Amino acid sequence: YVNWDVKSLLLFTAVFILTADYIKNRRPGSFPPGPRAFPIVGNLFTKIDHSKSERYGDVYSLRMGQTWIVVLNRFDVLKEALVDQGDVLADRPNLPLLQDISQGLGVIFSNGKIWKQQRRFALSTLKHFGFGKKSLKPVILEEFSYCAKEFKSHKGKPFDPHLILNNAVSNIICSLVFGHRFEYGDEKFMELMSWFGKGLELEASIWAQLYNSFPLLMRRLPGPHQTVQHIWNSVKDFIRVEVKEHKHNWDPSDNRDYIDCYLSEIQMNKGQADDTFDEENLVVCVFDLFLAGSETTSTTLRWAFLYMVQAEIDKVVGTSRQPSMEDRADLPYTDAVIHEIQRMSNIVPLSLPHVTTRDIRLGGYTIPKGVTIIPNLTSVLFDKNEWETPDAFNPGHFLNPEGKFVKRAAFIPFSAGKRVCLGENLARMELFLFFTSLMQHFTFSMPAGVKPVMDFRFGITLSPLPYEVCLTSR
Ligand code: HEM
Repeated sequence: YVNWDVKSLLLFTAVFILTADYIKNRRPGSFPPGPRAFPIVGNLFTKIDHSKSERYGDVYSLRMGQTWIVVLNRFDVLKEALVDQGDVLADRPNLPLLQDISQGLGVIFSNGKIWKQQRRFALSTLKHFGFGKKSLKPVILEEFSYCAKEFKSHKGKPFDPHLILNNAVSNIICSLVFGHRFEYGDEKFMELMSWFGKGLELEASIWAQLYNSFPLLMRRLPGPHQTVQHIWNSVKDFIRVEVKEHKHNWDPSDNRDYIDCYLSEIQMNKGQADDTFDEENLVVCVFDLFLAGSETTSTTLRWAFLYMVQAEIDKVVGTSRQPSMEDRADLPYTDAVIHEIQRMSNIVPLSLPHVTTRDIRLGGYTIPKGVTIIPNLTSVLFDKNEWETPDAFNPGHFLNPEGKFVKRAAFIPFSAGKRVCLGENLARMELFLFFTSLMQHFTFSMPAGVKPVMDFRFGITLSPLPYEVCLTSR
C-alpha cells in the first residue's frame, strides 16, 4: 500500500504516459533521423525550421500527432523525390479532416483514378479558357478596372487592400467556373469570401491537428473543428445552387464556363466503365479551384504591395541590391520583380503533403510505403547555395548582367512533379496582368510615419499581417 498524494500521482501518470508513448511510437528502423519521438503540435511552419536540416541533414523525420512525417529539404532532394521518382509520391496522405470534407473527390485531396481524370480535365479546361479561344485575359483586365475603381475611391488615404484584392481574384475564378462575377458589395459574395477566410484559418489550427490525430473521438466532440465542416458544407451548397442553375439553362453546343464543360463531360462519359465524372465530383472540383486559386494569388499581391514599398525604401536607404535598370526595357525587370516577390513571400512554404505509395530510397535512407512527405519549399527558395542574397529582396536573382530575364531552376513556389500546382499558368497570368496594371495606375506608399512590417501569419498560406497602404492615382 502506497500513500500517494495527488501531485505524485499526477506526476507518475504523466511520466508513465510519456514513456509508454515514446516506446510505442519509436522512430521506425530505416527511418531518416530527427528530433526525439515526442509529437509536435502547433504551427508546423515554425517547427520545420532551418536548424533541423542543419542538424539532421536534408531528409529528416518528425512525429506529428500519431504519425511520422518525413521532411524533404533543398532543390536536389525535392527534384529527386517529386520529379525523378514522381510516381511514388503522386498521392496525398489520408488526413481525416480533409477526407471528411472532400470525400476523396476533386483534385487536391483525391488519389488514383479520380485524381488522374479530374486533374486532366481541369488542366485542359483551364487551358481552353485561360489561353485558348475564350481567353481569360480580358476577364482579368476587366476585373482589374473594377478593382482600380475601388482603390481610387480611397483617394490616396490609407486603407487595407485585403478584401478588395480577395474579391477581385475570387471574381476571376467565379468568371471561370460560374461564368459571371459578383459586385464587391454583394452580400452572397461577401459571405462566400468570409467562409473561405474562416475555413482556411481553422484548417491550419490546432483543432484540425487534433482531428487528424484522433478522428474517431473528435468526430463526436463539439468544437471549432465541427465549424470547419459546417463552413465547407455551406460553400459546397453555394456551388450546388450554381450547378443547378447551370443545368437549368444549359446549352451543350455553347459551353460558357467550367461548369458547362463539366456537364458535357458527364454526358460524354456516361456508361463508361471507369467514369469518375458526376455532380458531386464537379462540386468538389469547383470547391478546389476556389480553395487553391483565390487566397494564393491575392496573398501574393498583398505581399507585392509591401515589397514595392519596401524596395523603394531599400533603394533610398541604400541597402537594396537591385541592379540599375532605369535605361533598360521594362518587362524583363517587371518579370524579375514578380518572380522575386513570389520567392520572398513563399506563400505555400511546405507545399501540400504527399505520401509514399511504395518504399523509396532518398538521401541514403529507405522510407517505407505510406509515410507522409512534406516537401519544404522554403528550404529551396531561401537556399544560400542557390541564391546570391537569399534573405534580401533582389530582383537581380532573375536578371543576367545584360538585364535579360533568366529562369532559375530553384524557383519552385508552385512545387514540382506530378502534383505541381494545377493553376500555375493562370496564377502567373493573373499576377503579371494585375501587377503591371497596378504599377501603371498607382503610386504606392505607406501611411505617414508607418514602416512596412514584413511579419506573417501562417494558415495554409503565409500571409502578411493586416496593413494599410496609400494608393495614389498616377
Ligand atoms: C497545388 C502553389 C495558384 C490550383 C498547389 C501546390 C502548391 C501551389 C505549392 C502543391 C503542389 C504539390 O502538392 O506538390 C500555388 C501558388 C499560387 C497558386 C504559389 C499563386 C501564386 C493556384 C491557382 C489555382 C491553383 C490560381 C487554380 C485555378 C491548384 C490545385 C492544386 C494546387 C487544384 C492541387 C493539384 C493536385 O493535387 O494535383 N499550388 N498555387 N493554384 N494548386 Fe496552386
